[in-house]
Amino acid sequence: MSNALEIRGLRAAIGDLEILKGVDMQIPFGEIHALMGPNGSGKSTLSHVLMGKPEFAASGSMLLDGTELIGLAVDERARLGLFEAFQYPVEVPGVSLGEFVAELADAAGNGSYLDRVAAATADLGMERFLDRPINEGLSGGEKKRSEMFQMAISTPKLAVLDEIDSGLDVDAVREVAGLVEGARSDSLGVLLITHYSRILNYMQPDRIHVMIDGRIVRSGGPEVAADLEASGYEALRAEMGLIPERDPLLDLP
Ligand SMILES: Nc1ncnc2c1ncn2[C@@H]1O[C@H](COP(=O)(O)OP(=O)(O)OP(=O)(O)O)[C@@H](O)[C@H]1O
Ligand SMILES: [Mg+2]
Repeated sequence: MSNALEIRGLRAAIGDLEILKGVDMQIPFGEIHALMGPNGSGKSTLSHVLMGKPEFAASGSMLLDGTELIGLAVDERARLGLFEAFQYPVEVPGVSLGEFVAELADAAGNGSYLDRVAAATADLGMERFLDRPINEGLSGGEKKRSEMFQMAISTPKLAVLDEIDSGLDVDAVREVAGLVEGARSDSLGVLLITHYSRILNYMQPDRIHVMIDGRIVRSGGPEVAADLEASGYEALRAEMGLIPERDPLLDLP
């Protein structure tokens, strides 16, 4: 199976501040990978750099289904099949979800697109949101559902879902996890960014990567999330020799 995403030696900086310090990752088509890590480790930066947010200077290589993304504009990346659900979904007052979808349908210019929209609208129970401005006044869970709807209708090759579980109650987390699993297909790779292993209780990621200080320090199966749940990120940091397990100042007489 070929790779939806292949990242090699990816570095990214804002000004003098290097945030990603050499990231390697491959997500084969058909797989869901989780990216975990403590606050400020660079997870959202990775999603921004994939999408091409202009303030980050990126070097290395990021292949989307074999096509190099570095150097391409945001809209070119989207057209190639990159979809991103933001950690903080933006509200778009004055544009209803239905109008937005109609624009996308025009751009797609084919009838099967409308069939897909109808199917996703029914599957995700989106009828009552189509007349409302995008994300405006939606609850946290409703916003995430709307993001999953947009993913379903845009049939991306790679979906990057940044904290799709944050701010959700336990039932909504289970529901969102089900939606992600439901979107699993041989023509899609998913990168799911999360702090907590909670959402992973309701889905079956093929691989879990842990990012600390701008590097992937561990990758593996479900045991990675279980270990983190048991001992936290600090233990992993110490194990990797990234910081002393004990602050040496505490040992001074
Ligand atoms: N525009 C920016 N200007 C300066 N520093 C930034 C900028 N964007 C991100 N950073 C810094 O880069 C580091 C990584 O941030 P990032 O948002 O990628 O972390 P994260 O892993 O997503 O954290 P969280 O789990 O809290 O969402 C942080 O120290 C952050 O302050
Ligand atoms: Mg983040």
